[in-house]
Amino acid sequence: MGLFGPLKPLHRAEEDGKALAKTLSWPHLMALGIGGIIGTGIYTLTGVGAGLAGPGVILSFAICGLVCACAALAYTEMATLIPTAGSAYTYTYSAIGEIAGWVVGWALILEYSLACSSVAVGWSAHLVGWLEEGVGLHLPAFLLNGPHAGGLVNLPAVLVSLAVMGLLLIGARESATINIILVIIKIVALGAFIFLGLPAIQAGNYDPFAPYGFIGQQMGGEKVGIMAAAAIVFFAFFGFDAVSTSAEEAKNPARDLTVGIIGSMVVSTIIYMLVAGVAVGVAPFREIADSAEPLPHILRSIGYPLVASLVGMAAIVALPSVILVMMYGQSRIFFVMARDGLLPAFVAKVNSKGSPALITLLTGIFVAIFAGFVPLKEIAALSNAGTLIAFIAVALSMIILRHKMPHAVRTFKTPLYWLVGLVAIGGCGFIFYSLPIQSQLFTLIWMCIGLGVYFSYGFWHSRLRKEETSSAE
Ligand code: ALA
Repeated sequence: MGLFGPLKPLHRAEEDGKALAKTLSWPHLMALGIGGIIGTGIYTLTGVGAGLAGPGVILSFAICGLVCACAALAYTEMATLIPTAGSAYTYTYSAIGEIAGWVVGWALILEYSLACSSVAVGWSAHLVGWLEEGVGLHLPAFLLNGPHAGGLVNLPAVLVSLAVMGLLLIGARESATINIILVIIKIVALGAFIFLGLPAIQAGNYDPFAPYGFIGQQMGGEKVGIMAAAAIVFFAFFGFDAVSTSAEEAKNPARDLTVGIIGSMVVSTIIYMLVAGVAVGVAPFREIADSAEPLPHILRSIGYPLVASLVGMAAIVALPSVILVMMYGQSRIFFVMARDGLLPAFVAKVNSKGSPALITLLTGIFVAIFAGFVPLKEIAALSNAGTLIAFIAVALSMIILRHKMPHAVRTFKTPLYWLVGLVAIGGCGFIFYSLPIQSQLFTLIWMCIGLGVYFSYGFWHSRLRKEETSSAE
């Protein structure tokens, strides 16, 4: 028993009938990573980021890339050391203790569920724009917005959330194969943007490079500057961590997880740097700041209207892959928390295909409700806050376990683990500090609610706590 409750053993034998089926290999995991990473962040938040930082948004992307690369290394080490589902929650449970693990699991709900909801809302906006501009079809406004914007419900966002949930219920492997196709579509669309945009860059657009400075100044009640933009475009980077939630379903965890996490991170960061560099090089940054679809907007402005609508269509077709990956991750985390006794046991039951069906259903409904009724901007920032907490916990867990268990078999060892761990922890802390103050406060409240839930239920039903108590008697 540690200071933060019992510590979960690294390779705990899981109960018969509750283990997940091993159906995934490294191409699936790499696609799962890229599927989770490339999405609403690059397709829509590039414009928001440019508005907050100017051309310096390139640096915002670079900072997030560096911090996330360090976090990705820590994730890879932990995922191969503890190849069971549950990701950051499980690692923290093993390294620091149950209460800390629960807190991180609770933060992951912000990350995964709210990212799904955000992307569903972003997808809905793309669809509506495309239907109106391309097909001339106007849907009733009250079915396109939640009550916050004077509507009833964002119906397309609800429908896409439920559709992805249905896909996950069919089984992980089928979903991962469809995901590979969607990932290719996304990469081709961004590739076309880079290819056509590069020759249209005007060096003058990069000057001044950082009109609002580096560390967030306040402007009109809003934080601006390169770090404020980093706190928003951070949304574009996470998703690789969802690969680690599938660890129990990997055929060869050591190889598949390493290639899946690091490969997806490297590919996405390279693409982002190019897209951001081209975006602010082709258009003056103020021009794309308010655009909900900055990439098609830029392509239209340089005379490629057809490619612009194809890139828009690619976003419509491919953004659901982000929801797929995130919802998959969320259902697996709930599954493991229930298996550990911190959530009611009946939700951990797996169906004949090895998928946790009930929890997938509950997650899908939860995501659909948020997507239908809550505005986009706030939930994206909250999703970032949850992710930053999880990344800090994973880097910390990596450092702690290196000290506590120096001889445990590690098939992947983070090079310079002290430095990498501290860059991840410090970088995530700095990005968290740069988030809007309201998001920071809400996260604090959310965490307090989480602790309340833990001490009302999890504390009393924890499998590990019960076992430790009975063996001590
Ligand atoms: N990284 C994911 C996205 O940008 C969450 O949509």
